[in-house]
Amino acid sequence: MLSSLLPPDIVAVETLTAPVGVTLFPEEEHCVRDAVAKRRTEFTAVRWCARVAMARLGLPPAPVVSGVRGAPGWDPSIVGSMTHCVGYHAAALGLREHYASVGIDAEPDRPLPEGIIEVVALEPERRQVEGLLRTRPHTSWDRLLFSIKESVFKTWYPATGRELGFEEALITLDPEASAFHARILARPELPGDEYAPREFTGRWATDGKVLVSAIAYTADALVTA
Ligand SMILES: CC(C)(COP(=O)(O)OP(=O)(O)OC[C@H]1O[C@@H](n2cnc3c(N)ncnc32)[C@H](O)[C@@H]1OP(=O)(O)O)[C@@H](O)C(=O)NCCC(=O)NCCS
Repeated sequence: MLSSLLPPDIVAVETLTAPVGVTLFPEEEHCVRDAVAKRRTEFTAVRWCARVAMARLGLPPAPVVSGVRGAPGWDPSIVGSMTHCVGYHAAALGLREHYASVGIDAEPDRPLPEGIIEVVALEPERRQVEGLLRTRPHTSWDRLLFSIKESVFKTWYPATGRELGFEEALITLDPEASAFHARILARPELPGDEYAPREFTGRWATDGKVLVSAIAYTADALVTA
């Protein structure tokens, strides 16, 4: 599902079941030394996905440790993103010479718990989601909006090192194309912020159980944003 959302030179690896017999690097082990079994399983599953992706990019296996604000630490030559939810784990990696950042997110294709859409959505987003829920009720558009905002954050944060609130990105869904546009509303504040991304485009898919959204942000877009 994921590879169809990303350009062909981004390697996407996904698994519905957690691979068994995977040995973590000592640095990775350190990250989950106190973790409960569920956390260890999801942590290991996405690192297995990342390792397979590294191999497909012609890179040797390398540890992926959780860095500042939880962002995964990649070899300087690559950009990437990982996601896990119940029954789904994935990683997407590209070469930094071609991409400035990548963000992926998976969520169950189920309505958001009550009260969350108010926290996540701006007014135009809420209107669009409510309209789609009426006219195309088979997709959890509210959850999709949430997933897209998580993908936006996972693309934004490694590129800027800055927080981004749910109210600081305006998402417009294109249901016909299974695509979306994200306009960053956060105003430049710090030196260098003028070079921060101002918009992202991405794609999404659902198999009826899991929704996946993905953004591949190019260095060209970063320069011209
Ligand atoms: C960071 C965040 C987006 C992760 O969401 P999540 O639902 O836990 O996402 P998933 O379970 O699908 O993926 C978790 C993976 O995301 C990655 N991730 C975590 N923090 C990250 C960050 N700051 N930057 C990039 N990737 C990050 C990690 O690889 C993590 O897996 P790991 O801990 O096993 O390495 C979320 O916790 C968060 O802080 N959201 C608030 C910010 C936000 O979304 N703003 C909206 C802007 S429009």
